[in-house]
Amino acid sequence: MTIVETPTSTVPLGGPSLPQERRLVTSIPGPKSQALQARKAQAVSAGVGVTLPVYIVAAGGGVLVDVDGNSLIDLGSGIAVTGVGNSAPQVVEAVAAQLAQFTHTCFTVAPYDSYIEVAETLNRLTPGDHAKRSALFNSGAEAVENAVKIARHYTGKQAVVAFDHAYHGRTTLTMGLTAKNQPYKNGFGPFAAELYRAPMSYPYRDGGLDGVVAAKRAISQIEKQIGAENLAAVIIEPIQGEGGFIVPAPGFLPTLVDWCRANKVVFIADEVQTGFARTGDMFASDHEGIVPDLMVMAKGIAGGLPLSAVTGRAEIMDSPQVGGIGGTYGGNPLACAAALATMAAYESENLVARAREIGAILTGRLNAIRTADKRVGDVRGRGAMIAVELVDAATGEPDAALTGRVVAAAHAQGVILLTCGTYGNVIRFLPPLSIPDGLLIEGLQVVQAALAAA
Ligand SMILES: Cc1ncc(COP(=O)(O)O)c(C=O)c1O
Repeated sequence: MTIVETPTSTVPLGGPSLPQERRLVTSIPGPKSQALQARKAQAVSAGVGVTLPVYIVAAGGGVLVDVDGNSLIDLGSGIAVTGVGNSAPQVVEAVAAQLAQFTHTCFTVAPYDSYIEVAETLNRLTPGDHAKRSALFNSGAEAVENAVKIARHYTGKQAVVAFDHAYHGRTTLTMGLTAKNQPYKNGFGPFAAELYRAPMSYPYRDGGLDGVVAAKRAISQIEKQIGAENLAAVIIEPIQGEGGFIVPAPGFLPTLVDWCRANKVVFIADEVQTGFARTGDMFASDHEGIVPDLMVMAKGIAGGLPLSAVTGRAEIMDSPQVGGIGGTYGGNPLACAAALATMAAYESENLVARAREIGAILTGRLNAIRTADKRVGDVRGRGAMIAVELVDAATGEPDAALTGRVVAAAHAQGVILLTCGTYGNVIRFLPPLSIPDGLLIEGLQVVQAALAAA
Protein backbone atom coordinates (compact mmCIF):
# COMPACT_ATOMS: atom_id res chain seq x y z
CA MET A 1 0.00 0.00 0.00
CA THR A 2 1.39 3.39 -1.00
CA ILE A 3 0.38 6.54 0.77
CA VAL A 4 1.31 9.71 -1.03
CA GLU A 5 1.28 13.01 0.79
CA THR A 6 0.64 16.07 -1.36
CA PRO A 7 -0.40 19.58 -0.42
CA THR A 8 -4.07 20.29 -1.01
CA SER A 9 -5.29 23.30 -2.97
CA THR A 10 -8.63 24.77 -3.87
CA VAL A 11 -10.72 23.92 -6.92
CA PRO A 12 -10.94 27.01 -9.17
CA LEU A 13 -14.23 26.05 -10.78
CA GLY A 14 -15.91 24.45 -7.81
CA GLY A 15 -17.33 20.96 -8.18
CA PRO A 16 -17.75 18.64 -5.24
CA SER A 17 -15.49 19.93 -2.48
CA LEU A 18 -12.97 17.14 -2.83
CA PRO A 19 -9.45 17.56 -1.54
CA GLN A 20 -7.33 18.34 -4.57
CA GLU A 21 -4.73 15.70 -3.90
CA ARG A 22 -3.34 12.47 -5.24
CA ARG A 23 -4.02 9.92 -2.53
CA LEU A 24 -3.41 6.22 -2.88
CA VAL A 25 -4.77 4.03 -0.09
CA THR A 26 -4.70 0.73 -2.01
CA SER A 27 -2.87 -0.59 -5.02
CA ILE A 28 -4.47 0.46 -8.31
CA PRO A 29 -7.00 -0.94 -9.01
CA GLY A 30 -8.03 -1.58 -5.42
CA PRO A 31 -10.00 -4.60 -4.20
CA LYS A 32 -13.44 -3.04 -4.61
CA SER A 33 -12.62 -1.91 -8.14
CA GLN A 34 -11.30 -5.37 -8.94
CA ALA A 35 -14.54 -6.92 -7.72
CA LEU A 36 -16.53 -4.53 -9.92
CA GLN A 37 -14.30 -5.33 -12.87
CA ALA A 38 -15.10 -9.02 -12.35
CA ARG A 39 -18.82 -8.19 -12.35
CA LYS A 40 -18.33 -6.14 -15.50
CA ALA A 41 -16.86 -9.15 -17.27
CA GLN A 42 -20.03 -11.11 -16.48
CA ALA A 43 -22.50 -8.35 -17.35
CA VAL A 44 -21.04 -6.01 -19.95
CA SER A 45 -20.08 -6.76 -23.52
CA ALA A 46 -16.38 -7.53 -23.79
CA GLY A 47 -16.24 -5.07 -26.70
CA VAL A 48 -16.69 -2.22 -24.23
CA GLY A 49 -13.13 -1.63 -23.06
CA VAL A 50 -11.87 0.23 -20.00
CA THR A 51 -8.60 2.22 -19.92
CA LEU A 52 -8.10 1.97 -16.18
CA PRO A 53 -10.50 -0.17 -14.13
CA VAL A 54 -10.88 2.11 -11.13
CA TYR A 55 -14.57 2.57 -10.43
CA ILE A 56 -15.42 6.18 -9.70
CA VAL A 57 -17.70 7.49 -6.95
CA ALA A 58 -16.91 11.23 -7.07
CA ALA A 59 -15.00 13.72 -9.21
CA GLY A 60 -14.26 17.42 -9.29
CA GLY A 61 -11.51 19.96 -9.93
CA GLY A 62 -8.64 17.78 -11.09
CA VAL A 63 -9.34 14.51 -9.30
CA LEU A 64 -11.38 11.34 -9.62
CA VAL A 65 -12.11 9.43 -6.39
CA ASP A 66 -12.62 5.69 -6.63
CA VAL A 67 -14.66 3.20 -4.70
CA ASP A 68 -11.58 2.17 -2.67
CA GLY A 69 -10.95 5.74 -1.51
CA ASN A 70 -8.07 6.50 -3.89
CA SER A 71 -7.93 10.02 -5.31
CA LEU A 72 -6.43 10.06 -8.80
CA ILE A 73 -5.17 12.98 -10.85
CA ASP A 74 -7.35 13.38 -13.92
CA LEU A 75 -5.35 14.14 -17.06
CA GLY A 76 -8.08 12.88 -19.41
CA SER A 77 -11.35 14.76 -18.64
CA GLY A 78 -13.32 11.69 -19.75
CA ILE A 79 -11.73 12.23 -23.19
CA ALA A 80 -11.90 16.03 -23.37
CA VAL A 81 -15.44 16.33 -21.99
CA THR A 82 -15.30 17.90 -18.53
CA GLY A 83 -13.56 21.12 -19.51
CA VAL A 84 -15.51 23.02 -16.87
CA GLY A 85 -14.79 20.30 -14.35
CA ASN A 86 -16.93 17.47 -13.07
CA SER A 87 -20.22 18.50 -11.48
CA ALA A 88 -19.34 22.18 -11.86
CA PRO A 89 -21.82 23.97 -9.54
CA GLN A 90 -23.30 26.13 -12.32
CA VAL A 91 -24.04 22.99 -14.33
CA VAL A 92 -25.44 21.07 -11.38
CA GLU A 93 -27.74 23.95 -10.47
CA ALA A 94 -29.01 24.39 -14.03
CA VAL A 95 -29.65 20.69 -14.54
CA ALA A 96 -31.31 20.30 -11.14
CA ALA A 97 -33.66 23.21 -11.90
CA GLN A 98 -34.55 21.70 -15.27
CA LEU A 99 -34.98 18.25 -13.71
CA ALA A 100 -37.64 19.65 -11.41
CA GLN A 101 -39.54 21.20 -14.35
CA PHE A 102 -39.64 18.46 -17.00
CA THR A 103 -37.21 15.84 -18.31
CA HIS A 104 -38.39 15.25 -21.86
CA THR A 105 -40.99 16.18 -24.39
CA CYS A 106 -38.96 15.54 -27.57
CA PHE A 107 -38.09 18.85 -29.19
CA THR A 108 -39.60 17.70 -32.49
CA VAL A 109 -42.94 16.96 -30.77
CA ALA A 110 -43.45 19.78 -28.26
CA PRO A 111 -40.48 22.17 -28.19
CA TYR A 112 -38.90 24.29 -25.44
CA ASP A 113 -36.81 27.43 -25.48
CA SER A 114 -33.50 26.10 -24.11
CA TYR A 115 -32.89 24.23 -27.39
CA ILE A 116 -33.25 27.51 -29.27
CA GLU A 117 -30.95 29.28 -26.81
CA VAL A 118 -28.27 26.60 -27.26
CA ALA A 119 -28.57 27.05 -31.04
CA GLU A 120 -28.32 30.84 -30.70
CA THR A 121 -25.24 30.48 -28.50
CA LEU A 122 -23.54 28.09 -30.93
CA ASN A 123 -24.38 30.36 -33.85
CA ARG A 124 -22.68 33.20 -31.98
CA LEU A 125 -19.62 31.31 -30.72
CA THR A 126 -18.65 29.46 -33.90
CA PRO A 127 -16.38 31.17 -36.47
CA GLY A 128 -17.88 33.47 -39.12
CA ASP A 129 -20.49 36.23 -38.93
CA HIS A 130 -22.73 34.85 -41.70
CA ALA A 131 -26.29 33.64 -41.00
CA LYS A 132 -26.17 30.28 -39.22
CA ARG A 133 -28.44 27.52 -38.03
CA SER A 134 -27.82 24.66 -35.59
CA ALA A 135 -29.28 21.22 -34.93
CA LEU A 136 -28.73 19.19 -31.77
CA PHE A 137 -27.99 15.49 -31.36
CA ASN A 138 -26.67 13.08 -28.72
CA SER A 139 -23.16 11.95 -29.62
CA GLY A 140 -20.26 13.14 -31.71
CA ALA A 141 -20.73 10.34 -34.21
CA GLU A 142 -24.43 11.12 -34.62
CA ALA A 143 -23.61 14.77 -35.31
CA VAL A 144 -20.95 13.78 -37.87
CA GLU A 145 -23.51 11.55 -39.63
CA ASN A 146 -25.96 14.43 -39.76
CA ALA A 147 -23.38 16.86 -41.09
CA VAL A 148 -22.72 14.41 -43.93
CA LYS A 149 -26.45 14.00 -44.59
CA ILE A 150 -26.95 17.76 -44.70
CA ALA A 151 -23.95 18.32 -46.99
CA ARG A 152 -25.16 15.65 -49.41
CA HIS A 153 -28.66 17.05 -49.46
CA TYR A 154 -27.44 20.59 -50.07
CA THR A 155 -24.94 19.76 -52.81
CA GLY A 156 -26.86 16.92 -54.45
CA LYS A 157 -23.53 15.07 -54.46
CA GLN A 158 -22.48 11.94 -52.58
CA ALA A 159 -18.74 11.50 -52.07
CA VAL A 160 -17.11 12.44 -48.76
CA VAL A 161 -13.37 12.79 -48.12
CA ALA A 162 -11.75 12.16 -44.75
CA PHE A 163 -8.05 12.08 -43.97
CA ASP A 164 -5.35 9.66 -42.91
CA HIS A 165 -5.31 9.27 -39.09
CA ALA A 166 -8.88 10.62 -38.85
CA TYR A 167 -11.31 9.64 -36.15
CA HIS A 168 -14.97 10.52 -36.57
CA GLY A 169 -16.75 7.82 -34.55
CA ARG A 170 -17.81 4.19 -34.46
CA THR A 171 -21.26 4.14 -36.05
CA THR A 172 -21.62 2.55 -39.47
CA LEU A 173 -21.06 5.74 -41.48
CA THR A 174 -18.44 7.24 -39.18
CA MET A 175 -16.44 4.00 -38.99
CA GLY A 176 -15.87 4.40 -42.68
CA LEU A 177 -14.56 7.93 -42.12
CA THR A 178 -12.34 6.78 -39.25
CA ALA A 179 -8.91 5.67 -40.45
CA LYS A 180 -7.68 3.18 -37.90
CA ASN A 181 -8.68 -0.47 -38.25
CA GLN A 182 -7.92 -1.76 -34.73
CA PRO A 183 -9.96 -1.55 -32.62
CA TYR A 184 -12.50 0.67 -34.37
CA LYS A 185 -13.33 -1.11 -37.61
CA ASN A 186 -11.98 -4.64 -37.55
CA GLY A 187 -14.70 -7.15 -38.45
CA PHE A 188 -17.46 -4.53 -38.59
CA GLY A 189 -17.64 -4.03 -42.34
CA PRO A 190 -18.89 -3.58 -44.96
CA PHE A 191 -18.52 0.18 -44.63
CA ALA A 192 -20.74 2.85 -46.17
CA ALA A 193 -20.19 3.73 -49.80
CA GLU A 194 -18.70 6.90 -51.31
CA LEU A 195 -16.21 7.53 -48.49
CA TYR A 196 -12.65 8.36 -49.56
CA ARG A 197 -9.37 9.12 -47.84
CA ALA A 198 -6.77 11.79 -48.55
CA PRO A 199 -3.24 12.30 -47.20
CA MET A 200 -2.92 14.43 -44.07
CA SER A 201 -0.34 17.03 -43.12
CA TYR A 202 1.65 15.39 -40.30
CA PRO A 203 4.74 17.58 -39.82
CA TYR A 204 6.61 15.19 -37.51
CA ARG A 205 6.29 12.29 -39.94
CA ASP A 206 6.18 13.95 -43.36
CA GLY A 207 9.53 15.70 -43.08
CA GLY A 208 7.90 19.00 -42.20
CA LEU A 209 6.15 19.27 -45.55
CA ASP A 210 4.84 22.80 -46.10
CA GLY A 211 1.13 23.04 -45.28
CA VAL A 212 0.10 24.49 -48.63
CA VAL A 213 2.09 21.82 -50.47
CA ALA A 214 0.52 19.10 -48.32
CA ALA A 215 -2.96 20.50 -49.07
CA LYS A 216 -2.23 20.58 -52.81
CA ARG A 217 -1.11 16.95 -52.61
CA ALA A 218 -4.45 16.04 -51.00
CA ILE A 219 -6.42 18.15 -53.49
CA SER A 220 -4.62 16.58 -56.44
CA GLN A 221 -5.52 13.12 -55.18
CA ILE A 222 -9.14 14.17 -54.64
CA GLU A 223 -9.39 15.63 -58.15
CA LYS A 224 -7.81 12.56 -59.76
CA GLN A 225 -9.63 9.88 -57.79
CA ILE A 226 -13.05 11.41 -57.08
CA GLY A 227 -13.65 14.69 -58.90
CA ALA A 228 -15.06 17.82 -57.26
CA GLU A 229 -18.25 17.32 -59.28
CA ASN A 230 -18.96 14.19 -57.22
CA LEU A 231 -17.76 15.47 -53.87
CA ALA A 232 -20.30 16.63 -51.27
CA ALA A 233 -17.95 17.30 -48.37
CA VAL A 234 -14.46 17.28 -46.97
CA ILE A 235 -14.41 16.48 -43.25
CA ILE A 236 -11.39 17.07 -41.05
CA GLU A 237 -10.43 17.52 -37.41
CA PRO A 238 -8.48 20.81 -37.25
CA ILE A 239 -6.22 19.03 -34.78
CA GLN A 240 -6.59 15.27 -35.05
CA GLY A 241 -7.55 13.64 -31.75
CA GLU A 242 -7.44 9.85 -31.70
CA GLY A 243 -4.99 9.95 -34.61
CA GLY A 244 -2.31 11.43 -32.36
CA PHE A 245 -2.97 15.14 -31.71
CA ILE A 246 -1.62 15.90 -35.15
CA VAL A 247 -1.50 19.64 -35.81
CA PRO A 248 -1.37 20.19 -39.57
CA ALA A 249 1.29 22.55 -40.88
CA PRO A 250 0.20 26.20 -41.26
CA GLY A 251 -1.63 26.79 -44.52
CA PHE A 252 -3.00 23.24 -44.83
CA LEU A 253 -6.47 23.99 -43.52
CA PRO A 254 -6.96 27.39 -45.24
CA THR A 255 -5.89 25.92 -48.60
CA LEU A 256 -8.43 23.11 -48.25
CA VAL A 257 -11.15 25.58 -47.24
CA ASP A 258 -10.44 27.79 -50.28
CA TRP A 259 -10.51 24.82 -52.64
CA CYS A 260 -13.79 23.57 -51.15
CA ARG A 261 -15.38 26.99 -51.53
CA ALA A 262 -14.23 27.31 -55.14
CA ASN A 263 -15.58 23.86 -55.97
CA LYS A 264 -18.96 23.87 -54.18
CA VAL A 265 -17.77 21.29 -51.67
CA VAL A 266 -18.96 21.63 -48.07
CA PHE A 267 -16.05 21.99 -45.64
CA ILE A 268 -16.91 20.26 -42.35
CA ALA A 269 -14.72 20.87 -39.29
CA ASP A 270 -15.06 18.05 -36.78
CA GLU A 271 -14.39 19.93 -33.54
CA VAL A 272 -15.81 17.20 -31.32
CA GLN A 273 -12.53 16.89 -29.40
CA THR A 274 -10.99 20.31 -30.06
CA GLY A 275 -14.00 22.50 -29.37
CA PHE A 276 -14.92 24.74 -26.43
CA ALA A 277 -11.72 26.37 -25.17
CA ARG A 278 -9.77 23.12 -25.18
CA THR A 279 -7.07 24.34 -27.56
CA GLY A 280 -6.74 27.84 -26.12
CA ASP A 281 -9.29 29.35 -28.45
CA MET A 282 -13.01 28.69 -28.41
CA PHE A 283 -12.47 26.41 -31.45
CA ALA A 284 -9.32 25.06 -33.09
CA SER A 285 -10.53 26.52 -36.40
CA ASP A 286 -9.97 29.96 -34.87
CA HIS A 287 -6.18 29.50 -34.79
CA GLU A 288 -5.82 29.77 -38.53
CA GLY A 289 -8.89 31.89 -38.99
CA ILE A 290 -10.73 29.33 -41.08
CA VAL A 291 -14.49 29.53 -41.35
CA PRO A 292 -15.96 26.05 -41.83
CA ASP A 293 -19.25 25.68 -43.70
CA LEU A 294 -20.40 23.20 -41.06
CA MET A 295 -18.94 22.56 -37.64
CA VAL A 296 -19.53 19.41 -35.59
CA MET A 297 -19.33 19.72 -31.80
CA ALA A 298 -19.89 17.46 -28.77
CA LYS A 299 -17.77 16.48 -25.73
CA GLY A 300 -16.99 19.82 -24.02
CA ILE A 301 -20.36 21.33 -24.94
CA ALA A 302 -22.39 20.32 -21.89
CA GLY A 303 -20.16 19.62 -18.88
CA GLY A 304 -20.55 15.85 -19.18
CA LEU A 305 -24.16 15.50 -20.26
CA PRO A 306 -24.68 13.89 -23.67
CA LEU A 307 -25.19 16.55 -26.31
CA SER A 308 -23.79 17.23 -29.76
CA ALA A 309 -24.44 19.75 -32.47
CA VAL A 310 -24.00 20.73 -36.07
CA THR A 311 -23.78 24.46 -36.71
CA GLY A 312 -23.32 25.99 -40.13
CA ARG A 313 -24.30 28.26 -42.97
CA ALA A 314 -28.04 28.87 -42.93
CA GLU A 315 -28.53 27.94 -46.59
CA ILE A 316 -26.83 24.56 -46.07
CA MET A 317 -28.47 23.79 -42.72
CA ASP A 318 -31.92 24.75 -44.05
CA SER A 319 -31.61 22.45 -47.07
CA PRO A 320 -33.07 19.18 -45.68
CA GLN A 321 -36.80 18.52 -45.83
CA VAL A 322 -38.79 19.02 -42.62
CA GLY A 323 -38.46 15.91 -40.50
CA GLY A 324 -35.26 14.77 -42.22
CA ILE A 325 -33.13 15.83 -39.27
CA GLY A 326 -33.77 15.02 -35.61
CA GLY A 327 -34.28 12.18 -33.18
CA THR A 328 -36.02 11.31 -29.94
CA TYR A 329 -33.43 12.67 -27.53
CA GLY A 330 -31.41 15.18 -29.55
CA GLY A 331 -31.31 18.44 -27.57
CA ASN A 332 -32.80 16.85 -24.47
CA PRO A 333 -33.81 19.58 -21.97
CA LEU A 334 -31.39 18.42 -19.27
CA ALA A 335 -28.51 18.43 -21.75
CA CYS A 336 -29.54 21.87 -23.04
CA ALA A 337 -29.65 23.28 -19.50
CA ALA A 338 -26.19 21.85 -18.90
CA ALA A 339 -24.90 23.24 -22.19
CA LEU A 340 -26.14 26.76 -21.47
CA ALA A 341 -24.46 26.77 -18.05
CA THR A 342 -21.30 25.20 -19.47
CA MET A 343 -20.96 27.58 -22.41
CA ALA A 344 -21.61 30.54 -20.10
CA ALA A 345 -18.79 29.30 -17.85
CA TYR A 346 -16.33 29.09 -20.76
CA GLU A 347 -16.92 32.77 -21.33
CA SER A 348 -17.38 34.10 -17.77
CA GLU A 349 -14.44 32.12 -16.35
CA ASN A 350 -12.26 32.92 -19.38
CA LEU A 351 -11.41 29.27 -19.83
CA VAL A 352 -9.75 30.01 -23.16
CA ALA A 353 -7.03 31.80 -21.18
CA ARG A 354 -6.94 28.98 -18.65
CA ALA A 355 -6.39 26.44 -21.44
CA ARG A 356 -3.44 28.52 -22.65
CA GLU A 357 -1.96 28.59 -19.15
CA ILE A 358 -2.31 24.83 -18.89
CA GLY A 359 -0.73 24.51 -22.34
CA ALA A 360 2.26 26.60 -21.23
CA ILE A 361 2.81 24.36 -18.21
CA LEU A 362 2.46 21.19 -20.28
CA THR A 363 4.63 22.21 -23.22
CA GLY A 364 7.30 23.84 -21.01
CA ARG A 365 7.82 20.73 -18.94
CA LEU A 366 7.36 18.20 -21.74
CA ASN A 367 9.82 20.02 -23.98
CA ALA A 368 12.36 19.99 -21.16
CA ILE A 369 11.90 16.21 -20.90
CA ARG A 370 12.25 15.93 -24.66
CA THR A 371 15.56 17.79 -24.66
CA ALA A 372 16.95 15.28 -22.17
CA ASP A 373 15.36 12.11 -23.53
CA LYS A 374 15.54 11.25 -27.21
CA ARG A 375 12.69 8.77 -26.84
CA VAL A 376 10.35 11.77 -26.74
CA GLY A 377 10.25 12.38 -30.47
CA ASP A 378 7.71 15.17 -30.57
CA VAL A 379 5.72 17.44 -28.26
CA ARG A 380 2.73 19.00 -29.98
CA GLY A 381 -0.80 20.28 -29.66
CA ARG A 382 -2.38 23.48 -28.49
CA GLY A 383 -3.72 24.77 -25.19
CA ALA A 384 -4.88 21.99 -22.91
CA MET A 385 -4.64 19.44 -25.73
CA ILE A 386 -0.98 18.40 -25.76
CA ALA A 387 0.69 15.11 -26.63
CA VAL A 388 4.08 13.46 -26.75
CA GLU A 389 5.03 10.94 -29.41
CA LEU A 390 7.36 8.24 -28.06
CA VAL A 391 9.86 6.65 -30.41
CA ASP A 392 12.85 4.37 -30.46
CA ALA A 393 15.75 6.77 -29.78
CA ALA A 394 17.98 5.09 -32.34
CA THR A 395 15.58 4.59 -35.25
CA GLY A 396 12.82 7.13 -34.64
CA GLU A 397 10.27 4.34 -35.15
CA PRO A 398 7.08 4.56 -33.07
CA ASP A 399 7.46 2.78 -29.73
CA ALA A 400 4.04 1.56 -28.62
CA ALA A 401 5.53 -0.84 -26.05
CA LEU A 402 7.34 2.00 -24.28
CA THR A 403 4.15 4.05 -24.37
CA GLY A 404 2.24 1.19 -22.77
CA ARG A 405 4.81 0.85 -19.98
CA VAL A 406 4.80 4.58 -19.18
CA VAL A 407 1.03 4.78 -19.06
CA ALA A 408 0.72 1.62 -16.94
CA ALA A 409 3.25 3.00 -14.45
CA ALA A 410 1.44 6.36 -14.27
CA HIS A 411 -1.85 4.57 -13.70
CA ALA A 412 -0.31 2.56 -10.87
CA GLN A 413 0.79 5.85 -9.30
CA GLY A 414 -2.70 7.35 -9.47
CA VAL A 415 -2.57 9.42 -12.65
CA ILE A 416 -5.27 8.93 -15.29
CA LEU A 417 -3.51 9.13 -18.61
CA LEU A 418 -4.71 8.33 -22.13
CA THR A 419 -2.91 7.17 -25.24
CA CYS A 420 -3.76 7.74 -28.89
CA GLY A 421 -2.12 7.71 -32.29
CA THR A 422 -2.27 5.53 -35.36
CA TYR A 423 0.87 3.75 -34.13
CA GLY A 424 -0.25 3.59 -30.47
CA ASN A 425 2.79 5.61 -29.37
CA VAL A 426 1.24 8.92 -28.33
CA ILE A 427 0.43 9.98 -24.76
CA ARG A 428 -2.17 12.71 -24.67
CA PHE A 429 -2.77 15.25 -21.97
CA LEU A 430 -6.35 16.52 -21.72
CA PRO A 431 -6.75 17.80 -18.17
CA PRO A 432 -9.96 19.44 -17.03
CA LEU A 433 -9.55 23.20 -17.19
CA SER A 434 -10.50 23.20 -13.49
CA ILE A 435 -7.31 21.38 -12.47
CA PRO A 436 -5.13 23.30 -10.00
CA ASP A 437 -1.60 23.98 -11.27
CA GLY A 438 -0.01 22.01 -8.44
CA LEU A 439 -1.91 18.87 -9.32
CA LEU A 440 -1.13 19.20 -13.01
CA ILE A 441 2.57 19.57 -12.25
CA GLU A 442 2.49 16.61 -9.89
CA GLY A 443 0.83 14.52 -12.60
CA LEU A 444 3.57 15.50 -15.02
CA GLN A 445 6.23 14.59 -12.48
CA VAL A 446 4.68 11.14 -12.15
CA VAL A 447 4.75 10.73 -15.94
CA GLN A 448 8.36 11.92 -16.06
CA ALA A 449 9.37 9.38 -13.40
CA ALA A 450 7.45 6.65 -15.23
CA LEU A 451 9.30 7.48 -18.44
CA ALA A 452 12.67 7.52 -16.71
CA ALA A 453 11.99 4.07 -15.25
CA ALA A 454 10.53 2.54 -18.43
C1 LIG B 1 -12.92 14.19 -33.52
C2 LIG B 1 -14.00 13.26 -33.06
N1 LIG B 1 -15.08 13.09 -33.81
C3 LIG B 1 -16.08 12.27 -33.43
C4 LIG B 1 -16.01 11.55 -32.25
C5 LIG B 1 -17.12 10.65 -31.85
O1 LIG B 1 -17.78 11.17 -30.76
P1 LIG B 1 -18.72 10.23 -29.86
O2 LIG B 1 -17.79 9.28 -29.15
O3 LIG B 1 -19.42 11.17 -28.93
O4 LIG B 1 -19.64 9.54 -30.80
C6 LIG B 1 -14.88 11.71 -31.42
C7 LIG B 1 -14.75 10.96 -30.17
O5 LIG B 1 -13.71 10.80 -29.59
C8 LIG B 1 -13.85 12.57 -31.84
O6 LIG B 1 -12.74 12.75 -31.10
